[in-house]
Amino acid sequence: MELIDGNQIAAAIAAELKAEVAAIQGRKPCIALVRVGEDPASVSYVKKKEKTAAEIGITSRIILPPVTISQPELFALLDALNADPDVDGILVQSPLPKHIDEVATFRRVSALKDVDGFNTLNLGKVAQEDDTGFVACTPAGIMELLRRTGVDLKGKHVVVVGRSLIVGKPIALLALQKKAGANGTVTICHSGTADLPALTRQADVLIAAIGRAEFVTAAMVKRGAVVIDVGINRVADPSKKNGYRLTGDVHFPSVAPLAGKITPVPGGVGPMTVAMLMKNTVKAFRLRAGQ
Ligand code: GUN
Repeated sequence: MELIDGNQIAAAIAAELKAEVAAIQGRKPCIALVRVGEDPASVSYVKKKEKTAAEIGITSRIILPPVTISQPELFALLDALNADPDVDGILVQSPLPKHIDEVATFRRVSALKDVDGFNTLNLGKVAQEDDTGFVACTPAGIMELLRRTGVDLKGKHVVVVGRSLIVGKPIALLALQKKAGANGTVTICHSGTADLPALTRQADVLIAAIGRAEFVTAAMVKRGAVVIDVGINRVADPSKKNGYRLTGDVHFPSVAPLAGKITPVPGGVGPMTVAMLMKNTVKAFRLRAGQ
C-alpha cells in the first residue's frame, strides 16, 4: 500500500504558485472569501485558505456576513465583489444557512471570478471539455493528485460514490474527459443505488465523496484499488482536546492494507482543494489582466 501524501503535493503546487506570483509586477492576485455565519468546519477551512493565500503572496479579503443575512443582501454583496476591479476570485464557503439558495448564490458569482467553479457556465465548460473556465477545486485537486502520483485513468473503471455538485458530478465528468490522464470508464453511485458494494468492488479507482464517516469498508474494495477519500467528518472523541477527531468516508484501518494507493484524512484531498483554489485565483488574475 502506498500512502498518497496530499500535504506534500499541495506544498509543491504552492511553491510553484509562489514563484509565479512573485514574478507579477504591481497588484497581486486577490481572492474574496465569503463565510456566512460561524459553522465550525467553515471557520477552519476559511482560515486555512487565508493562511495559504498569504504564504503564496495572494491577497485575501475576508467577508463575514452574519448568519441572518438575507438572500438579496448576499446577492448585493456578491454584485459589489463582481464589480470590484481589485478582486480576481470570489469564494462563498459552503454550506450556507438553510434560508439561502446555495445554487442561486453560486450562479450570482461572475463566471470570470468563479474560482470555486460552481456556477453554471464553469460547470458546463467541464462537460464541454473547454479548459478556459474554472474547475471546482476538490475535483481538480483529485485529478492533480492522480496525475502527480502516476495514476492514469485510461482503461480504468472509476467508481464515484456521491453525486454532489461540489465533488461527485464534476469529478465524474473530469475522469470521463477524452484527454491524457483521464479517459476513465465511470460509474456514479449514490443513495439510490441498488447493491452499492457490488459496484464499488469493481473499482480500479474508488472515489468516496458521500459525507458519511467511514462508510466504505474493506468488503466494498477490490485488492489493489486506488482509493481517494474525499470525506472530512468530525466524530466525537472525548480523548481529544477539542472533543472530536477527523475521519474520512473510508474506514482507513481496514481498507488501507487492501488498497494499492490510498489518501489519508486529514492530509490527502483536503490540502489539494486549497492548492487548486489558489491556482484558480492566479488563473482568474491572468484572465482579467489579459496575461
Ligand atoms: N465546502 C466544501 N468544499 C468546498 C469548496 O471546495 N468550496 C466551497 N466554497 N465550499 C466548500
